[in-house]
Amino acid sequence: MENDARHLIAQHAETARLLGVNFLPLGTPPSSLVENTAQSVETRPAVQEAAAPSTERLSKPAPPPAVSIAEIRASYEGKESSGDRLEALRAKYEFDAPHKHFAQGFTNIVFGEGDPDAELMFIGEAPGQQEDETGRPFVGRAGQLLEKMIVAMGLSRQRVYICNVLKARPPNNATPSVEESQACAPYLYEQIRIIKPKVIVTLGLPATHTVLQTQGTMRSLRGRWHEFAPELGEQIGVGGIAIMPTYHPAYLLRSYTEENRRKVWADLQMVQGRLSPG
Ligand code: URA
Repeated sequence: MENDARHLIAQHAETARLLGVNFLPLGTPPSSLVENTAQSVETRPAVQEAAAPSTERLSKPAPPPAVSIAEIRASYEGKESSGDRLEALRAKYEFDAPHKHFAQGFTNIVFGEGDPDAELMFIGEAPGQQEDETGRPFVGRAGQLLEKMIVAMGLSRQRVYICNVLKARPPNNATPSVEESQACAPYLYEQIRIIKPKVIVTLGLPATHTVLQTQGTMRSLRGRWHEFAPELGEQIGVGGIAIMPTYHPAYLLRSYTEENRRKVWADLQMVQGRLSPG
């Protein structure tokens, strides 16, 4: 018990340090978070500040056949608990396999994990190598940093829900193309509909663009609250979800400046305030 408390306090202190909360002018990320970067998600092009995700692919894939929202919903609507509904949605996703038109050579589907009734949902862009190997989102170096952020907010991985726009690792760890994100988005929207979080944090531009259906830069979008575009809000049918875009932890690891850490921490503090007002 005492050990647990000590561990928790140490983790809080480390997170504060990592995120620059105590204003330490650290120039480079801790070596434990940067070693072995080859072939990892952190080596993806630094697109967080770009206007739009890259559409460059090895070859132009044919778009997957459209699956109607009604058909996706029919797969889970009879189920009672959010956990069972998510499982049914996952099975539907695996059956439809929208990724098969884009991703080859991946090992596992990384559908998402955490509390099916979470108040807070984090959405990243796509699984990297370690996520692909384990079938779990955000378990690599970016994931370790995300977990520290979550703990710094007084939460745990188990109390939030974490997933990605893409559920299968893209070829060459590439940034998701617009077509790829669009093919997978209906399943993400249904995940949101089932979980009904109070707040969604989108990590990086591809997730932010997919959820907000906008093309703005991260600089212009982060640091303030958003809601779904009316059409998407109507489709998801869960009112009042607040959306906070922030920098992807992989971007933070690449551009490990005090300024960036302060910005992310400020975004997360706004989220914390919204979840536990007063
Ligand atoms: N980056 C992401 O966007 N998602 C993951 O699951 C891991 C790294």
